[in-house]
Amino acid sequence: MKRILVIGAAGNTGHPITEGLTAEGFTVRTATRDARPPGGAAEHARFDWADPTTHEAALEGVNRMYVLAPALVEDPSVLMVPFLERALRRGVRRVVLLSSSAVPEAGPGLGQVHHFLRQHAPEWSVLQPSWFMQNFIHPRHHWAAGLQRDGTLVTATGDGRIGFVDAADIAAVGIRALADDASHDTAHVITGPQALSYDDVAAILSRVWNRPIRHARASPEEALRHLRDAGMPDTYARLLTMLDGLIHDGAEDRVTDTVSRITGHSPRDFESFVRAHRPVWR
Ligand SMILES: NC(=O)c1ccc[n+]([C@@H]2O[C@H](COP(=O)([O-])OP(=O)(O)OC[C@H]3O[C@@H](n4cnc5c(N)ncnc54)[C@H](OP(=O)(O)O)[C@@H]3O)[C@@H](O)[C@H]2O)c1
Repeated sequence: MKRILVIGAAGNTGHPITEGLTAEGFTVRTATRDARPPGGAAEHARFDWADPTTHEAALEGVNRMYVLAPALVEDPSVLMVPFLERALRRGVRRVVLLSSSAVPEAGPGLGQVHHFLRQHAPEWSVLQPSWFMQNFIHPRHHWAAGLQRDGTLVTATGDGRIGFVDAADIAAVGIRALADDASHDTAHVITGPQALSYDDVAAILSRVWNRPIRHARASPEEALRHLRDAGMPDTYARLLTMLDGLIHDGAEDRVTDTVSRITGHSPRDFESFVRAHRPVWR
């Protein structure tokens, strides 16, 4: 029997991955810090990256797993690599990791986890998505919070463009990486169908929501101050400002064919995503 552990099973990608694998007949064990999330999984385990006493029971009888990083931890590899070593010793064969297009293999943090899997996991895939479309609708994300507050997106990205992607499309690639008989054994860079600047995003949101939305072009110092003033921890605010600089210089200005090549369907474009999802906070 194939038993697949899904960490972060209540989240943007973990939830649709749980539903999709369950629909394909896999025995899914959800792993979250809270009660069993929706999604129809057969099994559930309480799991906290920071609490190793929850790890053993979560791994019992598992062959494959989907992993994503603990939230707001500066170097998640410190918690993740020892858990993955333990999982491989316990007989887990396939690991699919959610990383990011901005994090190269062997780079800091998730780049170390990516490198560990390529070297040690018998079967592996790494999902490297660009920025999520969900950032604009979920109230816990700072973009959605800014939009709710005053209709403004403050960035230091200038005219830099991003291949925004729907988390459902990331999940669809993850489902194939977990479910296919042959392991993909590769990194998938995942984008939506268009690269958009924040000016483009503001124009689409204004049109669809029928409300003025503005992209405020900030210097890196102003963007950092804005994030800190909104209550973001300093290390994380610095990381996001650094990423704004990379976007400004064109690092995310690309689209890939990963979603259609791996899943057989086209990725959703930003305007239809916005039309289909009312912001949770409206
Ligand atoms: N947002 C983007 O634009 C973007 C772009 C590229 C990559 N990523 C990557 O995507 C990941 C986050 O995705 P998301 O923003 O969509 O969040 P999400 O998956 O919707 O939510 C984060 C999930 O992580 C789980 N989690 C957090 N801390 C945990 C801990 N200590 N122990 C166990 N579970 C924990 C939470 O589970 P509980 O149910 O237990 O709280 C929650 O389900 C990050 O690794 C980020 O690098 C994001």
